[in-house]
Amino acid sequence: MNKLSELQKKDLEHIFHPCSQMKDYENLPPIVITKGEGMYVEDEFGNRYMDCVSSWWVNLFGHCNARINKVIKEQIDKLEHIIFANFSHEAGIELGERLTKVAPEGLNKLIFTDNGSSSTEVAIKLSFQSHVQSGNPQKKTFVSLEGAYHGETIGALGVGNMDRFTDVYKPLIREGKKVKGPDCFNCTYNKNRETCDAECFEHMEKYLLENHNEVSGVIIESMVQGVAGMRIYSPKYIQKLRKLTKDLNIHLIADEIAMGFGRTGKMFAIEHAGVSPDIMCVGKGLTAGYFPMSIVLITDELYNNFYDDYSAGKSFLHSHSYSGNPIGCRIAVETLKIFEDENILEMIEEKGNFLRTLAKEKLKETPYLGEYRQIGLIGAIELVGLPGERAGYEIYKIALKKGAILRPLGNIVYFMPPYIIKEEEMEKMLDIFNESLKEYLERFQ
Ligand SMILES: Cc1ncc(COP(=O)(O)O)c(C=O)c1O
Repeated sequence: MNKLSELQKKDLEHIFHPCSQMKDYENLPPIVITKGEGMYVEDEFGNRYMDCVSSWWVNLFGHCNARINKVIKEQIDKLEHIIFANFSHEAGIELGERLTKVAPEGLNKLIFTDNGSSSTEVAIKLSFQSHVQSGNPQKKTFVSLEGAYHGETIGALGVGNMDRFTDVYKPLIREGKKVKGPDCFNCTYNKNRETCDAECFEHMEKYLLENHNEVSGVIIESMVQGVAGMRIYSPKYIQKLRKLTKDLNIHLIADEIAMGFGRTGKMFAIEHAGVSPDIMCVGKGLTAGYFPMSIVLITDELYNNFYDDYSAGKSFLHSHSYSGNPIGCRIAVETLKIFEDENILEMIEEKGNFLRTLAKEKLKETPYLGEYRQIGLIGAIELVGLPGERAGYEIYKIALKKGAILRPLGNIVYFMPPYIIKEEEMEKMLDIFNESLKEYLERFQ
């Protein structure tokens, strides 16, 4: 164990960190961050780190954004929380108005939850209950794609397909149906991103045609399977899926928790396909990295299916103590205002173009490069055949010493920076990646 500060000692005494093997902390003790500013966070020793992963994909406009800080302070002095059953507040009402304006057409009603996984639970419960109330109680299967990730609560794990998260809990999980979906890096149809017509949709098509009577909903991560390794796929897949699900009375659930709010260059990733889902989950960037809140958006048609006399037993009885918290809503409203006032989507397009050209240049001679892929301001470097164990994690540790947070997904190193990133910071991000990989490979010479 390295020499630890008092704060690190106390942390390890009490805290069981997420998504971690705590024994790893013997080699890489918790980095205690004392402040954040823009692209950077600073630790207790004054080391600065460039946050290239937006602190688990949540931060949009940098740390301690002045506009958001201001509205939080104002909101706290007005109202910190109020039960959201029977009561409401200005921030929630304004958010309802603003979010439905920018959401894909038809998504007109909001259900508040606290985090992405809970919004997946709501989507599942709501879809099923709606079918029950329309006389189709046999529609209880949820379909998702191989490589899917929709959160880590038990219901969400049922539609997820990442073994490392699900394996041990299998006896507790009600498994959904996993269908072979797009895998563009290893396309078995000999197509590339330009020639693709989503031929791989055939697996989904076959399954849905044969089993639609039992299927309640299909849940997808729109355009990019994030946790599976930033696997970008064709909007044509979504178009085909939208048409078929509509024809077969199956809900299309768009999980936009990671990819919503501009990540892919559109406000919501499903816009690339030009279609609307029946249910859409948003979280993470909704509150720009400030507050755990997520929302499930649904159509009026679905909403109306729950609207009746209380005695009809059609209420949707899902609640969280902090549902619709005013501070979270105020932050989300400001997030949407920033998108509008500061032309964030145009900024993402410009910066995305710069990053694409830069990455092409800087990765020209990168060894073990399988593919560099990008959409919006998300770039992913798929490394293939690297020597050694947990190469991605080792590269991440080296990059930390060089001042960049490049937390990988297996051996895929990706960039998902806050939108305020500057050109010189993108250069630095790629340079640190290249240097870290080089330093890692030197261990095997
Ligand atoms: C696509 C997707 N869905 C759901 C979730 C779960 O969100 P949360 O971590 O807020 O529960 C995530 C988290 O990474 C995600 O990427």
